[in-house]
Amino acid sequence: MKYYYLNKIAMAVLVALLLFFGARTLINIAYEEHEPEKPGFEVAGDEKAHGGAEKPAGGGGSEIIAALQTADPAQGEKDVALCKVCHSFDKGGPTMIGPNLYGVVGHKIAAHEGVNYTAALKGKEGDWTFENLAPG
Ligand code: HEC
Repeated sequence: MKYYYLNKIAMAVLVALLLFFGARTLINIAYEEHEPEKPGFEVAGDEKAHGGAEKPAGGGGSEIIAALQTADPAQGEKDVALCKVCHSFDKGGPTMIGPNLYGVVGHKIAAHEGVNYTAALKGKEGDWTFENLAPG
């Protein structure tokens, strides 16, 4: 009987780990773009010639600002449903797996109080902007 109980606990821990890492992996696959901060070598030539979108220095820019003007807040609510697994979006909301994101635009990167950020994010300088938050 006692072992049965321990099995239940072990199973609960395994399922929790599976859900956490599984969700994280899926989200990484769906959202992350692995671009090195500094390219290992400079590729000579014109990026545009290869069909790549031109990216102004600073990582993005006018495109996202233009897109914001016709953005649909209701769609945005739907789009962040996944993020809410780990982030709260309301003012003064709790830190969950990730930090509260209320007012994150204009806020210093990796500076939410009480959050133990990874070195990758802590190493980033400056504030979050629409540009550096925009995917792509
Ligand atoms: C599996 C949990 C999880 C999900 C889902 C998730 N995040 Fe996060 N997020 C984190 C963690 C953990 C951090 C802190 C990362 C670090 O320390 O490097 C973070 C950090 C951030 C930050 C930086 C915050 C700061 O204070 O600098 C932003 C912005 C952010 N996430 C946006 C999003 C958005 C938008 C989504 C949905 C598309 C999302 N996150 C989905 C866990 C998650």
